[in-house]
Amino acid sequence: MRFEGKSAVVTGAASGIGLAVARRLASEGANLVIGDRNAEGLEEAARSIGGSTVAMPLDVTDAGSCTAIIERAVELNGGLDVLCNIAGVLDFGRVGDIDETRWARVIAVNLTGVYLMSRAAIPHLIESRGNVVNMASAAGLVGVPFNAAYTASKHGVVGLTKSLALELSKEGVRVNAVCPTGVNTPMIAAAPPENIDWELVMRATPWLDGGENCEPEDIADAVAFLASQEARRITGIAFPVDGGQTAA
Ligand SMILES: NC(=O)c1ccc[n+]([C@@H]2O[C@H](COP(=O)([O-])OP(=O)(O)OC[C@H]3O[C@@H](n4cnc5c(N)ncnc54)[C@H](O)[C@@H]3O)[C@@H](O)[C@H]2O)c1
Repeated sequence: MRFEGKSAVVTGAASGIGLAVARRLASEGANLVIGDRNAEGLEEAARSIGGSTVAMPLDVTDAGSCTAIIERAVELNGGLDVLCNIAGVLDFGRVGDIDETRWARVIAVNLTGVYLMSRAAIPHLIESRGNVVNMASAAGLVGVPFNAAYTASKHGVVGLTKSLALELSKEGVRVNAVCPTGVNTPMIAAAPPENIDWELVMRATPWLDGGENCEPEDIADAVAFLASQEARRITGIAFPVDGGQTAA
């Protein structure tokens, strides 16, 4: 029960890793407000998690929406201790096929969204000496071919994490990132475009267990550790959960 009585906000909680993180924090006692742009999926997620979990539709690319979910958590649960920025989108394609609209969407959700959510949360995290866990990716540490916007956005998340960790260190606020390899969620279930060299992409796979992907719960374990008091001396790290992918 590492989060007994703690107030937490989890974005991207309607699906995949965000849902697994929300489940884990709630199962360890957190009072949760969960957000996602998929309002229907979010309601279902809140019902399945149960307890005091509150669902609030959220678009992380909209500053007002980010402020609203943070303020709701503070109002309902008396403050904010943990922010998990999990919402994200993936967009494979040759760089010449990615137009400005696709590029801007990936950067807006994956990178600017983390900035907007963090900016809204920081005053409250300073009060609680709380922490942020950002969902980066192995693609935040190494290049992934045919995935330029996503890879750039996740490298950006790692940089933002380190910068904020240093900036907020005197206030006792920790900021960390988790960098997973492939995780079995709806995000990676979609078929990739036909004109990319998929074999080249798949060279960057985990070494552990013959290249098996992670499950969302594997990533939730790492997020919960970093968000907990067990990690009280850890800030500014990009923590791979990647079966050795980025060691290669
Ligand atoms: N699945 C993987 O292989 C993998 C690997 C490394 C990192 N990640 C990262 O993990 C995070 C979660 O991904 P997932 O695999 O669970 O995917 P997912 O598609 O199952 O979940 C992503 C969630 O984010 C939500 N979302 C998207 N845009 C949003 C917006 N503008 N505002 C609010 N919510 C929004 C979606 O509705 C969805 O519920 C992402 O940041 C992703 O980049 C995933």
